[in-house]
Amino acid sequence: MKTGIYPGSFDPITLGHLDIIKRAALVVDKLIIGVLNNSAKKSLFTPEERVAMIQKVTSDIPNVEVESFNGLLVDFADQKQAHIIVRGLRAISDFEYELQIAQTNRKVNSKVDTMFFTTSEEYSYISSSIVKEYAMYGGDVSQFVTPYVETCLKAKIKENR
Ligand code: COA
Repeated sequence: MKTGIYPGSFDPITLGHLDIIKRAALVVDKLIIGVLNNSAKKSLFTPEERVAMIQKVTSDIPNVEVESFNGLLVDFADQKQAHIIVRGLRAISDFEYELQIAQTNRKVNSKVDTMFFTTSEEYSYISSSIVKEYAMYGGDVSQFVTPYVETCLKAKIKENR
């Protein structure tokens, strides 16, 4: 059984993330989406909200599970008996950081390897921060997130006003 982990902040999940999830789910038997909840980043959504949103938008992919995690990614991978970490590469600027993380993780836990997916071109410029900023100023984010996430974003922004 090949289990992969796709970790990230997912604040919120975008169509770019979903593209990676769909493609990665085809090459592993089980894909666990690991929602980081100890990030130094200030998040708009709580870890529970992020998990719930991802569960909703991936409900049609049978081999996907969603969980939040604390601490080191390699420890979470061990706990889940996962040997593959899935990451997306949007542009050359992602490469240096991703290489560093992948090499560090492999040094710490040689059983874990990282598999990179290049993002589909139409999503190569998206990030959760850009989507949030656009939504905060009333922009139409329907090209970047699913309708459900768009509804959650609007509700959260209204709640925070
Ligand atoms: N589509 C859309 N956006 C994408 C994307 C894609 N395919 N791939 C990356 N991004 C964006 C995210 O939206 C995010 O945008 P934001 O900064 O505006 O929020 C940004 O790229 C990077 O985010 P993310 O993929 O969520 O990674 P991260 O940098 O927040 O976290 C972890 C990366 C989870 C792998 C890393 O922090 C980690 O492993 N943490 C656990 C602690 C640990 O083990 N540390 C040691 C590492 S050596």
